[in-house]
Amino acid sequence: MLILGIETSCDDTGIALVEINSGVPINLLNLISSQVKIHAKYGGVVPYLAARYHEKNLYVLIEEAIKKHRHLKEALGLIAVTVGPGLGPSLLMGIVAAKLLSYSWQKPIIAVNHLEGHLFSPFLNDVFERPIFNLPFLCLLVSGGHTELVVVKGVGEYLVLGRTLDDACGEAFDKVARLLGLGYPGGPQIERLALEFKPNIKNQRPKLLFKPPMINSNNFNFSYSGLKTAVLYKIKSQKTNIENSYIAWHFQEAALMPLVKKTLAAVQKYDIKTIFVAGGVSANNRLKELFKEELEAKNLKIKIYFPDKILTQDNAAMIAYVGYLKYLKKKKNANNLEAIFAQPNLAL
Ligand code: KG4
Ligand code: ZN
Repeated sequence: MLILGIETSCDDTGIALVEINSGVPINLLNLISSQVKIHAKYGGVVPYLAARYHEKNLYVLIEEAIKKHRHLKEALGLIAVTVGPGLGPSLLMGIVAAKLLSYSWQKPIIAVNHLEGHLFSPFLNDVFERPIFNLPFLCLLVSGGHTELVVVKGVGEYLVLGRTLDDACGEAFDKVARLLGLGYPGGPQIERLALEFKPNIKNQRPKLLFKPPMINSNNFNFSYSGLKTAVLYKIKSQKTNIENSYIAWHFQEAALMPLVKKTLAAVQKYDIKTIFVAGGVSANNRLKELFKEELEAKNLKIKIYFPDKILTQDNAAMIAYVGYLKYLKKKKNANNLEAIFAQPNLAL
Protein backbone atom coordinates (compact mmCIF):
# COMPACT_ATOMS: atom_id res chain seq x y z
CA MET A 1 0.00 0.00 0.00
CA LEU A 2 1.21 3.50 -0.84
CA ILE A 3 0.56 6.25 1.71
CA LEU A 4 0.86 10.01 1.36
CA GLY A 5 1.77 11.70 4.68
CA ILE A 6 1.11 15.38 5.37
CA GLU A 7 2.59 17.14 8.43
CA THR A 8 2.19 20.83 9.26
CA SER A 9 1.82 20.90 13.06
CA CYS A 10 4.43 23.54 13.77
CA ASP A 11 6.93 25.31 11.50
CA ASP A 12 8.14 22.51 9.21
CA THR A 13 6.12 21.52 6.16
CA GLY A 14 6.39 17.76 5.56
CA ILE A 15 5.24 15.62 2.65
CA ALA A 16 6.15 11.93 2.44
CA LEU A 17 5.47 8.81 0.45
CA VAL A 18 5.75 5.54 2.34
CA GLU A 19 5.17 2.17 0.71
CA ILE A 20 4.22 -0.78 2.88
CA ASN A 21 5.55 -4.07 1.64
CA SER A 22 4.45 -7.14 3.65
CA GLY A 23 4.02 -4.86 6.67
CA VAL A 24 7.47 -3.31 6.30
CA PRO A 25 7.63 0.45 5.58
CA ILE A 26 9.81 1.73 2.76
CA ASN A 27 10.62 5.45 2.69
CA LEU A 28 10.14 6.56 -0.91
CA LEU A 29 10.20 10.26 -0.18
CA ASN A 30 10.44 12.34 3.00
CA LEU A 31 10.47 16.05 2.16
CA ILE A 32 10.78 18.73 4.83
CA SER A 33 10.63 22.41 4.03
CA SER A 34 12.13 24.14 7.05
CA GLN A 35 11.05 27.59 8.19
CA VAL A 36 13.88 27.95 10.72
CA LYS A 37 15.37 31.00 9.03
CA ILE A 38 11.98 32.75 8.90
CA HIS A 39 11.28 32.37 12.61
CA ALA A 40 14.90 32.70 13.83
CA LYS A 41 14.74 36.45 14.09
CA TYR A 42 11.73 36.22 16.41
CA GLY A 43 13.41 33.65 18.68
CA GLY A 44 10.50 31.22 18.28
CA VAL A 45 7.71 30.17 15.93
CA VAL A 46 5.16 32.86 14.94
CA PRO A 47 1.93 30.90 14.27
CA TYR A 48 0.37 33.06 11.55
CA LEU A 49 3.67 33.31 9.66
CA ALA A 50 4.10 29.54 9.92
CA ALA A 51 0.66 29.02 8.36
CA ARG A 52 1.45 31.39 5.49
CA TYR A 53 4.61 29.48 4.68
CA HIS A 54 2.84 26.12 4.90
CA GLU A 55 0.35 27.45 2.38
CA LYS A 56 3.26 28.50 0.15
CA ASN A 57 5.26 25.29 0.54
CA LEU A 58 2.59 22.61 0.57
CA TYR A 59 1.73 22.58 -3.07
CA VAL A 60 5.42 22.81 -4.07
CA LEU A 61 6.15 19.66 -2.09
CA ILE A 62 2.99 17.88 -3.25
CA GLU A 63 3.99 18.66 -6.81
CA GLU A 64 7.41 17.11 -6.11
CA ALA A 65 5.71 13.98 -4.79
CA ILE A 66 3.59 13.77 -7.94
CA LYS A 67 6.74 14.09 -10.07
CA LYS A 68 8.55 11.47 -8.02
CA HIS A 69 5.74 8.93 -8.42
CA ARG A 70 4.38 9.15 -11.95
CA HIS A 71 1.18 7.27 -11.15
CA LEU A 72 0.67 8.65 -7.68
CA LYS A 73 -3.04 9.31 -8.06
CA GLU A 74 -3.75 5.77 -9.27
CA ALA A 75 -1.34 4.01 -6.90
CA LEU A 76 -2.22 5.91 -3.72
CA GLY A 77 -4.01 3.84 -1.09
CA LEU A 78 -4.31 6.30 1.81
CA ILE A 79 -3.75 9.90 2.89
CA ALA A 80 -2.54 10.44 6.48
CA VAL A 81 -2.59 13.90 7.99
CA THR A 82 -1.54 15.37 11.34
CA VAL A 83 -4.55 16.82 13.20
CA GLY A 84 -2.80 17.78 16.48
CA PRO A 85 -1.30 18.70 18.81
CA GLY A 86 0.21 21.82 17.34
CA LEU A 87 -0.47 25.37 16.25
CA GLY A 88 -4.07 25.80 15.05
CA PRO A 89 -3.31 27.87 11.91
CA SER A 90 -0.50 25.48 10.91
CA LEU A 91 -2.61 22.35 11.39
CA LEU A 92 -5.44 23.80 9.32
CA MET A 93 -3.21 24.23 6.27
CA GLY A 94 -2.19 20.56 6.14
CA ILE A 95 -5.72 19.39 6.90
CA VAL A 96 -7.27 21.47 4.10
CA ALA A 97 -4.69 20.17 1.62
CA ALA A 98 -5.28 16.55 2.72
CA LYS A 99 -9.08 16.84 2.56
CA LEU A 100 -9.04 18.40 -0.89
CA LEU A 101 -6.77 15.64 -2.21
CA SER A 102 -8.89 12.97 -0.56
CA TYR A 103 -12.07 14.44 -2.04
CA SER A 104 -10.82 15.05 -5.56
CA TRP A 105 -8.83 11.81 -5.84
CA GLN A 106 -11.44 9.77 -3.93
CA LYS A 107 -8.91 8.29 -1.52
CA PRO A 108 -9.37 7.26 2.12
CA ILE A 109 -8.04 9.71 4.68
CA ILE A 110 -6.97 9.16 8.27
CA ALA A 111 -6.23 11.58 11.15
CA VAL A 112 -2.92 11.12 12.95
CA ASN A 113 -1.79 12.40 16.34
CA HIS A 114 1.63 14.01 15.82
CA LEU A 115 2.92 12.48 19.06
CA GLU A 116 2.05 8.98 17.84
CA GLY A 117 4.14 9.74 14.77
CA HIS A 118 7.18 10.38 16.99
CA LEU A 119 6.52 7.26 19.12
CA PHE A 120 6.79 4.92 16.14
CA SER A 121 9.46 6.86 14.20
CA PRO A 122 12.41 4.41 14.73
CA PHE A 123 10.46 1.78 12.73
CA LEU A 124 11.30 3.87 9.63
CA ASN A 125 15.08 3.91 10.21
CA ASP A 126 17.35 3.47 7.21
CA VAL A 127 20.62 4.64 8.81
CA PHE A 128 20.40 3.51 12.44
CA GLU A 129 19.28 0.03 13.41
CA ARG A 130 15.60 -0.55 12.67
CA PRO A 131 13.70 -2.34 15.46
CA ILE A 132 11.51 -5.33 14.70
CA PHE A 133 7.83 -4.74 15.48
CA ASN A 134 7.57 -5.92 19.06
CA LEU A 135 5.25 -4.61 21.75
CA PRO A 136 5.30 -3.25 24.37
CA PHE A 137 8.14 -0.74 24.28
CA LEU A 138 8.87 2.32 26.37
CA CYS A 139 9.23 5.60 24.52
CA LEU A 140 10.92 8.70 25.85
CA LEU A 141 9.46 11.44 23.67
CA VAL A 142 11.58 14.60 23.97
CA SER A 143 10.97 17.51 21.66
CA GLY A 144 10.42 21.26 21.68
CA GLY A 145 6.84 20.83 22.81
CA HIS A 146 6.84 17.55 24.74
CA THR A 147 8.72 15.55 27.35
CA GLU A 148 6.82 12.35 28.01
CA LEU A 149 7.54 8.83 29.11
CA VAL A 150 5.07 6.46 27.48
CA VAL A 151 4.52 2.70 27.53
CA VAL A 152 3.37 1.76 24.03
CA LYS A 153 1.22 -1.36 24.37
CA GLY A 154 -0.32 -1.13 20.92
CA VAL A 155 -1.43 1.34 18.29
CA GLY A 156 -3.66 3.72 20.22
CA GLU A 157 -2.90 1.97 23.52
CA TYR A 158 -0.63 4.21 25.53
CA LEU A 159 0.16 4.47 29.20
CA VAL A 160 1.68 7.89 29.90
CA LEU A 161 3.88 7.40 32.96
CA GLY A 162 4.91 11.02 33.29
CA ARG A 163 5.45 14.27 31.51
CA THR A 164 6.89 17.70 32.05
CA LEU A 165 5.12 19.84 34.61
CA ASP A 166 6.17 23.06 32.85
CA ASP A 167 8.62 23.60 29.96
CA ALA A 168 9.59 20.83 27.56
CA CYS A 169 13.23 19.74 27.47
CA GLY A 170 13.82 21.07 23.92
CA GLU A 171 12.15 24.33 24.90
CA ALA A 172 14.68 24.68 27.76
CA PHE A 173 17.53 24.14 25.26
CA ASP A 174 16.01 26.88 23.08
CA LYS A 175 15.58 29.31 26.00
CA VAL A 176 19.06 28.74 27.41
CA ALA A 177 20.51 29.15 23.90
CA ARG A 178 18.82 32.53 23.74
CA LEU A 179 20.32 33.48 27.14
CA LEU A 180 23.75 32.58 25.74
CA GLY A 181 23.18 34.64 22.60
CA LEU A 182 22.88 31.59 20.34
CA GLY A 183 20.36 31.16 17.52
CA TYR A 184 17.16 29.14 17.19
CA PRO A 185 16.70 26.18 17.42
CA GLY A 186 18.97 26.09 20.44
CA GLY A 187 19.48 22.34 20.94
CA PRO A 188 22.10 21.71 18.26
CA GLN A 189 23.93 24.95 19.15
CA ILE A 190 24.11 24.12 22.87
CA GLU A 191 25.36 20.65 22.01
CA ARG A 192 28.07 22.08 19.75
CA LEU A 193 29.14 24.68 22.33
CA ALA A 194 29.21 22.10 25.14
CA LEU A 195 31.72 20.06 23.13
CA GLU A 196 34.16 22.97 23.41
CA PHE A 197 34.20 22.62 27.20
CA LYS A 198 36.73 20.08 28.35
CA PRO A 199 36.26 19.02 31.97
CA ASN A 200 39.80 18.56 33.32
CA ILE A 201 39.06 15.62 35.59
CA LYS A 202 39.84 12.47 33.63
CA ASN A 203 37.37 9.60 33.83
CA GLN A 204 35.34 11.36 36.43
CA ARG A 205 32.30 13.54 36.08
CA PRO A 206 32.94 17.10 37.33
CA LYS A 207 30.76 18.37 40.15
CA LEU A 208 27.55 19.62 38.61
CA LEU A 209 26.91 23.35 38.54
CA PHE A 210 23.14 22.89 38.18
CA LYS A 211 21.03 20.32 39.98
CA PRO A 212 19.33 17.95 37.50
CA PRO A 213 15.66 18.81 38.06
CA MET A 214 13.40 16.25 39.76
CA ILE A 215 16.10 13.62 39.50
CA ASN A 216 15.22 12.18 42.89
CA SER A 217 11.46 12.66 42.76
CA ASN A 218 9.58 9.44 43.18
CA ASN A 219 7.66 9.68 39.90
CA PHE A 220 8.17 9.91 36.15
CA ASN A 221 7.53 13.61 35.73
CA PHE A 222 9.99 16.25 34.56
CA SER A 223 10.45 19.98 35.04
CA TYR A 224 12.65 22.44 33.14
CA SER A 225 11.60 25.98 33.98
CA GLY A 226 13.60 26.09 37.25
CA LEU A 227 16.75 24.91 35.48
CA LYS A 228 16.40 27.66 32.90
CA THR A 229 16.03 30.23 35.71
CA ALA A 230 19.08 28.81 37.51
CA VAL A 231 21.11 29.28 34.31
CA LEU A 232 19.84 32.85 34.01
CA TYR A 233 20.92 33.67 37.59
CA LYS A 234 24.30 32.06 37.04
CA ILE A 235 24.92 34.16 33.96
CA LYS A 236 23.80 37.34 35.75
CA SER A 237 25.79 36.69 38.91
CA GLN A 238 29.12 36.03 37.19
CA LYS A 239 29.67 38.92 34.87
CA THR A 240 33.28 38.16 34.00
CA ASN A 241 35.38 35.17 33.00
CA ILE A 242 32.58 32.71 32.64
CA GLU A 243 32.84 30.68 29.51
CA ASN A 244 29.62 30.05 27.63
CA SER A 245 30.83 26.54 26.81
CA TYR A 246 31.10 25.84 30.57
CA ILE A 247 27.48 26.93 31.11
CA ALA A 248 26.32 24.99 28.04
CA TRP A 249 28.03 21.77 29.20
CA HIS A 250 26.64 22.00 32.71
CA PHE A 251 23.14 22.91 31.53
CA GLN A 252 23.15 20.00 29.07
CA GLU A 253 24.22 17.51 31.75
CA ALA A 254 21.53 18.70 34.16
CA ALA A 255 18.86 18.67 31.43
CA LEU A 256 19.66 15.19 30.12
CA MET A 257 20.35 13.27 33.32
CA PRO A 258 16.73 13.12 34.55
CA LEU A 259 15.67 11.78 31.13
CA VAL A 260 18.11 8.89 31.38
CA LYS A 261 17.54 8.12 35.03
CA LYS A 262 13.73 8.09 34.81
CA THR A 263 13.64 6.12 31.57
CA LEU A 264 15.79 3.39 33.09
CA ALA A 265 13.76 3.39 36.31
CA ALA A 266 10.60 2.95 34.21
CA VAL A 267 11.86 0.00 32.16
CA GLN A 268 12.89 -1.73 35.36
CA LYS A 269 9.59 -1.01 37.12
CA TYR A 270 7.46 -2.16 34.16
CA ASP A 271 9.84 -4.92 33.09
CA ILE A 272 10.15 -3.69 29.51
CA LYS A 273 13.00 -4.82 27.29
CA THR A 274 12.99 -2.12 24.60
CA ILE A 275 13.44 1.64 24.77
CA PHE A 276 12.75 4.11 21.96
CA VAL A 277 13.95 7.70 22.27
CA ALA A 278 12.20 10.06 19.85
CA GLY A 279 11.63 13.76 19.04
CA GLY A 280 14.06 16.59 18.30
CA VAL A 281 16.20 16.14 21.45
CA SER A 282 16.81 12.47 20.58
CA ALA A 283 19.32 13.75 18.00
CA ASN A 284 21.60 14.81 20.89
CA ASN A 285 24.77 12.69 20.98
CA ARG A 286 25.46 13.34 24.64
CA LEU A 287 22.02 11.88 25.42
CA LYS A 288 22.97 8.73 23.50
CA GLU A 289 26.28 8.54 25.39
CA LEU A 290 24.60 8.95 28.78
CA PHE A 291 22.11 6.17 28.00
CA LYS A 292 24.94 3.87 26.95
CA GLU A 293 26.97 4.65 30.10
CA GLU A 294 24.03 4.13 32.44
CA LEU A 295 22.87 0.91 30.78
CA GLU A 296 26.39 -0.46 31.13
CA ALA A 297 26.78 0.77 34.70
CA LYS A 298 23.51 -0.91 35.68
CA ASN A 299 24.28 -3.96 33.55
CA LEU A 300 20.83 -3.80 31.97
CA LYS A 301 20.18 -5.97 28.93
CA ILE A 302 17.84 -3.60 27.19
CA LYS A 303 17.75 -2.64 23.52
CA ILE A 304 17.63 1.06 22.83
CA TYR A 305 16.70 2.65 19.50
CA PHE A 306 17.06 6.22 18.26
CA PRO A 307 15.50 7.54 15.04
CA ASP A 308 17.58 8.60 12.04
CA LYS A 309 18.37 12.33 12.13
CA ILE A 310 15.59 13.22 9.66
CA LEU A 311 13.10 11.21 11.70
CA THR A 312 13.93 13.06 14.95
CA GLN A 313 12.49 16.18 13.34
CA ASP A 314 8.87 16.81 12.51
CA ASN A 315 8.41 14.84 9.28
CA ALA A 316 5.58 13.31 7.29
CA ALA A 317 6.99 9.78 6.89
CA MET A 318 6.25 9.03 10.55
CA ILE A 319 2.71 10.37 10.04
CA ALA A 320 2.22 8.17 6.96
CA TYR A 321 3.38 5.07 8.85
CA VAL A 322 1.14 5.64 11.87
CA GLY A 323 -1.70 6.45 9.47
CA TYR A 324 -1.21 3.00 7.96
CA LEU A 325 -1.17 1.30 11.38
CA LYS A 326 -4.39 3.08 12.35
CA TYR A 327 -6.01 2.30 9.00
CA LEU A 328 -5.43 -1.40 9.63
CA LYS A 329 -7.46 -1.04 12.82
CA LYS A 330 -10.37 1.05 11.56
CA LYS A 331 -10.70 1.06 7.81
CA LYS A 332 -14.41 1.85 7.98
CA ASN A 333 -13.86 5.38 9.27
CA ALA A 334 -11.36 6.37 6.62
CA ASN A 335 -13.80 8.06 4.26
CA ASN A 336 -15.35 10.45 6.72
CA LEU A 337 -14.03 13.93 5.97
CA GLU A 338 -15.96 15.34 8.93
CA ALA A 339 -13.91 13.22 11.31
CA ILE A 340 -10.80 15.14 10.27
CA PHE A 341 -10.43 18.48 12.04
CA ALA A 342 -7.66 20.43 13.80
CA GLN A 343 -7.15 19.53 17.46
CA PRO A 344 -4.39 21.85 18.74
CA ASN A 345 -4.46 20.38 22.26
CA LEU A 346 -4.69 16.70 21.32
CA ALA A 347 -2.96 14.42 23.86
CA LEU A 348 -1.92 10.79 23.65
O1 KG4 B 1 10.63 17.21 17.28
P1 KG4 B 1 11.01 18.60 16.93
O2 KG4 B 1 11.66 18.87 15.59
O3 KG4 B 1 9.78 19.56 16.99
C1 KG4 B 1 8.82 19.49 17.99
O4 KG4 B 1 7.83 18.73 17.81
O5 KG4 B 1 9.01 20.19 19.01
O6 KG4 B 1 11.95 19.14 18.11
C2 KG4 B 1 12.56 20.41 18.08
C3 KG4 B 1 13.28 20.60 19.41
C4 KG4 B 1 13.84 22.02 19.58
O7 KG4 B 1 13.51 22.47 20.87
C5 KG4 B 1 15.34 21.81 19.43
O8 KG4 B 1 16.12 22.76 20.13
C6 KG4 B 1 15.53 20.42 19.97
O9 KG4 B 1 14.39 19.71 19.51
N1 KG4 B 1 16.76 19.79 19.47
C7 KG4 B 1 17.79 19.43 20.26
C8 KG4 B 1 18.80 18.95 19.40
N2 KG4 B 1 18.33 19.01 18.11
C9 KG4 B 1 17.07 19.53 18.18
N3 KG4 B 1 17.95 19.49 21.59
C10 KG4 B 1 19.14 19.06 22.09
N4 KG4 B 1 20.15 18.60 21.33
C11 KG4 B 1 20.04 18.53 19.98
N5 KG4 B 1 21.04 18.07 19.24
ZN1 ZN C 1 7.33 16.96 16.93
